[in-house]
Amino acid sequence: ADHDGFATQLLAWFDLHGRHDLPWQHPRSPYRVWLSEIMLQQTQVATVIAYFQRFVDGLPDLPALAAAPQEQVLALWSGLGYYARARNLHAAARACVERHGGELPRDLEALVALPGIGRSTAAAILSQAWGDRHAILDGNVKRVLARYHGVEGWPGAPKVEKRLWAFAEAHVADPALPDARMADYTQAQMDLGATLCTRSKPTCLLCPLRGACAAHRDGLTDSLPTPRPG
Ligand code: ADE
Repeated sequence: ADHDGFATQLLAWFDLHGRHDLPWQHPRSPYRVWLSEIMLQQTQVATVIAYFQRFVDGLPDLPALAAAPQEQVLALWSGLGYYARARNLHAAARACVERHGGELPRDLEALVALPGIGRSTAAAILSQAWGDRHAILDGNVKRVLARYHGVEGWPGAPKVEKRLWAFAEAHVADPALPDARMADYTQAQMDLGATLCTRSKPTCLLCPLRGACAAHRDGLTDSLPTPRPG
């Protein structure tokens, strides 16, 4: 059940119901995608939009961010919280000037080596900025995949997380998912997790994946993903 229509159904839904008007999608650039992903790590889309706009108005590209004093970066971040994100962003921009000629590297390992960028964020940047074929697995996607595949166990446990990554990788290997749609595919998963496949009271009636979803079939949407033990 690897190539079972997961990507196809998700993309068809995204075309009709996904978010196509986010400010980091127009224009799309590696810098703007990166900034948006860092802001979205702990903050919802509706809140991020205005902060994103203010930040890129002040610091429109990576060299400008790298050259800015820390106080300006923190001032542009103020109100968003989790200020370690802003300090890491600034340090990562300076590292890109040092190591990568002032650009964000188009390489998973090089991105993960930068402050504030984990594996899923690196994959989201590569797929959304360049259309590269990488699986993502953030909190929303863990929930979608745990339900769809009926994966039991707390997704924070290494063995469970490993299984979820394997499913995520299998879906991006589907030949029905074109390179040209990788950015949309990544966004579609996050949109589905944020809008329909929510933690409580998911809207399965409107879900494009309900026909093949194990949790929906078995009446387990309330018990999956398994909560953290203790
Ligand atoms: N969370 C992390 N990245 C996101 C994105 N691109 N859209 C919505 N939520 C997100």
